[in-house]
Amino acid sequence: MPTLFKNKLLSQKYDLYFETGTAGGRSSKIALNLGFKKVFSCDIVKLKNKHLLDYENFFYENSDSVSFLKKHLKNLNQESVFFLDAHPNDFQPKDWPIWDELGLILDHHIKNHFIIIDDYDIISSKFPKKLETIISNSNKGYNFIGYSFNRFIDVLVAEPEPFIHDFIKVR
Ligand SMILES: C[S@@+](CC[C@H](N)C(=O)[O-])C[C@H]1O[C@@H](n2cnc3c(N)ncnc32)[C@H](O)[C@@H]1O
Repeated sequence: MPTLFKNKLLSQKYDLYFETGTAGGRSSKIALNLGFKKVFSCDIVKLKNKHLLDYENFFYENSDSVSFLKKHLKNLNQESVFFLDAHPNDFQPKDWPIWDELGLILDHHIKNHFIIIDDYDIISSKFPKKLETIISNSNKGYNFIGYSFNRFIDVLVAEPEPFIHDFIKVR
């Protein structure tokens, strides 16, 4: 979860945070400190930062992101935050799990989850506006905000109404 979301409004509005691609757990830790009631995160690589497992509301799964999302979406009955960041270390977004991940989330019966997609610059350089189109086709009420930490837009936030982004501070 990008640093700019260190604003508690997000965890006040949503109880549950799902992240694909835990890596070292940097973003999961931010989500835990933000105060989400439960933080679920998965990676195909085993978690090295075992310290995170000390948090009783942290649920790590050594799993691919598609299996992880299928499993959790089946029982999910509340609007939640999804941070999608599972990908190999390459510049081939065509083969990244993001497309299947997004398909699963958008097919869910709840049509207004809060979706954060990392590496937007890489994805949109190959597929301009494709993420926005797919998401809008599912729910026209989404608002899109791009955040930049370097020169490019690194993160795309797809925010359902009612919006809280005015209150999220950009650093
Ligand atoms: C850029 S890192 C994630 C960084 C992390 N989200 C953070 O904010 O610190 C991408 C991670 O995705 C994982 N990954 C790659 N393919 C995956 C897949 N199909 N399912 C789950 N994780 C995957 C990699 O092992 C890697 O740890």
